[in-house]
Amino acid sequence: MTRMLICYYSKSGTTEDMAESILQGAENSEARVDVEMRKVENLDVKDLLGYHGIILGSPTYYGLPCAEIKKLLDESVMIHGKLDGVVGGAFTSSANPAGGNETTIIALLEALLIHGMIVKGSPSGDHYGPVVVGDPDEKELEQCREYGKIMANFTDEIAGSED
Ligand SMILES: Cc1cc2nc3c(=O)[nH]c(=O)nc-3n(C[C@H](O)[C@H](O)[C@H](O)COP(=O)(O)O)c2cc1C
Repeated sequence: MTRMLICYYSKSGTTEDMAESILQGAENSEARVDVEMRKVENLDVKDLLGYHGIILGSPTYYGLPCAEIKKLLDESVMIHGKLDGVVGGAFTSSANPAGGNETTIIALLEALLIHGMIVKGSPSGDHYGPVVVGDPDEKELEQCREYGKIMANFTDEIAGSED
């Protein structure tokens, strides 16, 4: 069975709302994917092994991922080379429309690329990964659900092609 992880940090709940919507979208996709949603605090870096797709979510802090997610990335040097070929994605929430949300997603995707992971962009909507600004509205949450669906299908496709 294909396995996908949504790993996130959220202090005041917005990034968590996004993670829940991404999970919902993934579970409602046609893909045969087992999807898990976990707070980064409850995850050991070695838990990252064994997933075919990993999506990281972080609030935008000073235009960058928060320290909790960066800590996981820094610890991931212990499993360097073992995530090669795994599907990767990222999402973020911020207070302001141009408050550094895209730079935050790109910073996350850069780290995933260094692991050799396969990153998927989108020709429509939020190109790099979903973004919520302020309190999430229905359009933003729908974008998260759509992202979950796309990532579940893509992960299933990539994992299936390796069998
Ligand atoms: C330490 C800190 C730094 C922040 N930096 C930014 C920032 O650079 N740009 C921005 O738009 N919002 C910034 N924010 C606001 C958060 O990104 C925003 O409230 C986010 O939705 C919080 O996510 P959460 O509810 O999942 O904790 C910052 C918040 C904190 C606490």
